[in-house]
Amino acid sequence: MSYQLLKGKKGIITGALDENSIAWKVALRAYEEGATFVLTNAPVAMRMGKINELATACNTIVIPADATKIEDLENLYTQAMTHLGGKLDFVLHSIGMSPNVRKDRPYGDLKYDYFLQSLDISALSLHKMLQTAEKLDAINEWGSVVALSYIAAQRTFGTYSDMAQAKAVLESIARSYGERYGKHRKVRVNTISQSPTKTTAGAGIDGFDAFYSFADMLSPLGNASAEDCANYVLTLFSDLTRMVTMQNLFHDGGFSTNGISDALIDKIKG
Ligand SMILES: NC(=O)c1ccc[n+]([C@@H]2O[C@H](COP(=O)([O-])OP(=O)(O)OC[C@H]3O[C@@H](n4cnc5c(N)ncnc54)[C@H](O)[C@@H]3O)[C@@H](O)[C@H]2O)c1
Repeated sequence: MSYQLLKGKKGIITGALDENSIAWKVALRAYEEGATFVLTNAPVAMRMGKINELATACNTIVIPADATKIEDLENLYTQAMTHLGGKLDFVLHSIGMSPNVRKDRPYGDLKYDYFLQSLDISALSLHKMLQTAEKLDAINEWGSVVALSYIAAQRTFGTYSDMAQAKAVLESIARSYGERYGKHRKVRVNTISQSPTKTTAGAGIDGFDAFYSFADMLSPLGNASAEDCANYVLTLFSDLTRMVTMQNLFHDGGFSTNGISDALIDKIKG
């Protein structure tokens, strides 16, 4: 159902790789809700993924940008504003990758140049996107920036490895930049901490199916799907949440505050 919640709003959506990507669902829903936006992804991902199909479905263009490179981000904002005919109202940061996780390195044998890449791609890229936007004055007052996080920022999930540090930094950047951007330009910055979701990034985590099932059994509402996440993101892009900023918002069916569930008790009892 469409509420035209984002009618007249312009934005940038990062991170749509294929139809499983959370960003893919955000793009389809934002389009339904009346937004206009450009899509972007790392040049290498664009060759592997299907982002051009999504661009056609959303009647828009793709502007390649490696989110760790300032010159790519400057070009992204400049071209996006030209294409959309004005400043932006929303930005989705949906970017994560750890070379240590990808190469199955145990937490006691991490490669530190990989660790720095995990932090750069998955966390500092949010700072780079915010700082570049501010310098170019690319976001309108009451605009909204949302980044996607995971509860491994607060609790340890062994195989999530250095992505846990990346998410902790990501959430901290959202708070620190949210304070600055709110004060100077009334721009809002939040993170959404999403349930395990079956995507390319999710499936890269060792034991992901067990993470997924455990979270589903512990959460009173079950795991939040990528579609549910997209709906929540849209509320944060909308004017209905204009006083929400500097928050890490759990979108997890109740997982983060539940201790145990009947389903888990039954499972353990056998
Ligand atoms: N899938 C889950 O279980 C889950 C749970 C909570 C949070 N998240 C977060 O959601 C976000 C989106 O992930 P997803 O699950 O949709 O998986 P995904 O693999 O579909 O998306 C990750 C995206 O990051 C992009 N990316 C990687 N390096 C980049 C770079 N240098 N520049 C620009 N883009 C780059 C990839 O191309 C890809 O499109 C990530 O931040 C992820 O950590 C995922």
